[in-house]
Amino acid sequence: MSLLELDDVSVTYRIASGDVPAVRGVSLTLDSGAALGVAGESGSGKSTLAMALLRLLPRDARVSGRILLDGEDVLAMKWGRLRAVRWAEASIVFQGAQHGLNPVRRIGDQIAEPLLVHDLAKPDAARGRVTELLEQVGLPAWRARSYPHELSGGQRQRVMIAMALACSPRLIIADEPTTALDVMVQAQVLTLIKELVAQQGISLIMISHDLSVLADVCDQLAVMYAGRVVEHGPSSEVFHDARHPYSRALAAAFPTVGDPASRMAPKGLGGDPPDPMHLPTGCSFHPRCPVALDECPTLDVELWAAGAGRVAACIHAKPATATAPASAPATEEPA
Ligand SMILES: Nc1ncnc2c1ncn2[C@@H]1O[C@H](COP(=O)(O)OP(=O)(O)O)[C@@H](O)[C@H]1O
Ligand code: SF4
Ligand SMILES: [Mg+2]
Repeated sequence: MSLLELDDVSVTYRIASGDVPAVRGVSLTLDSGAALGVAGESGSGKSTLAMALLRLLPRDARVSGRILLDGEDVLAMKWGRLRAVRWAEASIVFQGAQHGLNPVRRIGDQIAEPLLVHDLAKPDAARGRVTELLEQVGLPAWRARSYPHELSGGQRQRVMIAMALACSPRLIIADEPTTALDVMVQAQVLTLIKELVAQQGISLIMISHDLSVLADVCDQLAVMYAGRVVEHGPSSEVFHDARHPYSRALAAAFPTVGDPASRMAPKGLGGDPPDPMHLPTGCSFHPRCPVALDECPTLDVELWAAGAGRVAACIHAKPATATAPASAPATEEPA
């Protein structure tokens, strides 16, 4: 059984000026011990999706579909169970560690807190566990006595990772964990995350706008655009041989980690991501798409099979036998 199963998950924020469909019909699965990367520009719905997984969204957000964690329906969980799941089974590392840490409490106390609150350790054992966790994330034990402002950005992000590991979760969701860090520190923190999940058999969902970072760390990649998954498959194939023009543009927009030559020719993507309240018709990517066809603005896009274990929501990925206009009787199988 998959550790995590998302079935047709949608999230809509209800705000004064109307509904914001931030995530639209996302279906994904994550096996135990596997790492899934979720890519997309700012505003594509990545954080909303991540927060929906543990029901961390604000009250004005409406979630539909099914989210199964180890077969258990997250959306139907009682509050007490949900609290336990958030620490013991799945935890999130957010972007910008400075906001996740309490500025007036020592690092060690903050790492120990979930262990004590959930009665997973007595104070002495918790202190021992803090030392162990700090070592795992590459910080000396004496750092337990430091306050957040005494640490660098990279060290604070390591503390956040130690906190996420404290209760030995089975799943870690890392939302842009290295975006605020400089390139060298970013590489160190990424290597750390990669090693920890591999050594401890933890499943990982890593979110980033940088496809090269995700391809380096994850086995599978899902690319999101305007709230939808537009491509999904094995990460090196999606990164090196994308089937959706948006994934291709993302892959070209960032240098390959560790490859100095690729840094020389980053290729951007024109235009801006659409406002979810005013989505373009048909394929939402059509106003920016360099290979759009006449039918794209009215196309009923779905995720078509695009090779072994791969799907892409682009007419160019549609099987050759099924390239009739959207108004023709559908002969293809829905993905
Ligand atoms: N609390 C909120 N209320 C209304 N709209 C929101 C809220 N949070 C996010 N959004 C909107 O939802 C969309 C997706 O945002 P987000 O999930 O943060 O994307 P990403 O993490 O990919 O940058 C964006 O258009 C954003 O403006
Ligand atoms: S369906 Fe059309 S507009 Fe959308 S990505 Fe493919 S070619 Fe571009
Ligand atoms: Mg985000």
